[in-house]
Amino acid sequence: MIKKSGFKIILILAFVAIITFLHFSANRDNFHLHSIYQHLYYIPIILAGFWFGLQGGIITSLGITFCYVFYSSSHPVHESGLYAEMIIYNIVGIVTGFLSRMEKNQREKSEKTAEDLRKAYQKLQTTLEQLTRADRLAALGELSAGLAHEIRNPLGSIKGAIDILESEFDNKNQKKEFIDIIKDEIDRLNGLVSEFSLFAKPKDPDIREADVNEIVDSVIRLTTNRAGQQKVSIVPELGEGLPYFFVDSEQIKQVLLNTVINGIQSMPDGGNLVIKTTETNSSIKISITDEGVGIETEKLSRVFDPFFTTKENGTGLGLSISYQLIKKHGGEIIVSPNPDRGLTFTVQIPIKYTNE
Ligand SMILES: Nc1ncnc2c1ncn2[C@@H]1O[C@H](COP(=O)(O)OP(=O)(O)OP(=O)(O)O)[C@@H](O)[C@H]1O
Ligand SMILES: [Mg+2]
Repeated sequence: MIKKSGFKIILILAFVAIITFLHFSANRDNFHLHSIYQHLYYIPIILAGFWFGLQGGIITSLGITFCYVFYSSSHPVHESGLYAEMIIYNIVGIVTGFLSRMEKNQREKSEKTAEDLRKAYQKLQTTLEQLTRADRLAALGELSAGLAHEIRNPLGSIKGAIDILESEFDNKNQKKEFIDIIKDEIDRLNGLVSEFSLFAKPKDPDIREADVNEIVDSVIRLTTNRAGQQKVSIVPELGEGLPYFFVDSEQIKQVLLNTVINGIQSMPDGGNLVIKTTETNSSIKISITDEGVGIETEKLSRVFDPFFTTKENGTGLGLSISYQLIKKHGGEIIVSPNPDRGLTFTVQIPIKYTNE
């Protein structure tokens, strides 16, 4: 930018210098030639006004007026012609500069309007996405609640029946193994139903003062064993002197567990999983960064969708439940790919809880 302006100034100065030189060196009696040079001065004046606005136009026209006065002291010029030319130089300088400034203001205004429009459009897009997601969540929530209810009752009956049947087989009986399989599967289904219910109707948060680093510590304690089995190291980078924030610790713990377990699962060959806590803009920020396999760009926006999973045994509910829980805290959870590999999930929760 500065380089460009420097070049323009040099060009204007060169114009003035060349015209002045030609003007001075032309034959004194050749009025036609002098008249041409006199008018050529308008080029640098207009250029200066155009490029540097009012200031540039005035400085150049004054400089040229000065050259012209200097010239007239050694050459015969009619006095009225001299004054008229000097006045016109300055008028042209002022008018061009003024017009160029107006044009610049106008351009800046349109650029700002375009930028505002772009931002408004982006905001609209995000709101629309959130609304669609909320809509889908509500519809799926109702469906899940209905399903959970319908499944839980027959499951209870099956469990009761199996308990009765079990008493008829002793441990040596080979068929006892089938009873155990049925019981395990019932437990698995019950777990699934509980997740469905949680997703359908997340509990209102029980808000209390809490220390984010304590929550992270307990999540690390719960997951270290699992991480170790996969050669994943959990690296805490906990901010010092962070303020207490107002949350339902159990719910935040659950969100962090979901994201940390996902992170561990994404690193089948091991690696580091960094959990960082900071304070930012009256919020507590927790980021979970893995070095895992990541996910294709087109699937990234779907990770918070209910039932979206790429895992054989996944329910695809972990992140959508987390999303809802964080929303209930008035916060947000986002995901972004790391520059090299893996994903970073960032949870941001306002320090002061405000019921949305
Ligand atoms: N850290 C991560 N790295 C790569 N992909 C991820 C990561 N976290 C989530 N995902 C993707 O998002 C999907 C949804 O995650 P989510 O936790 O909701 O469900 P899930 O892990 O598949 O199943 P579950 O309900 O058992 O947690 C995952 O299947 C996976 O494709
Ligand atoms: Mg998960």
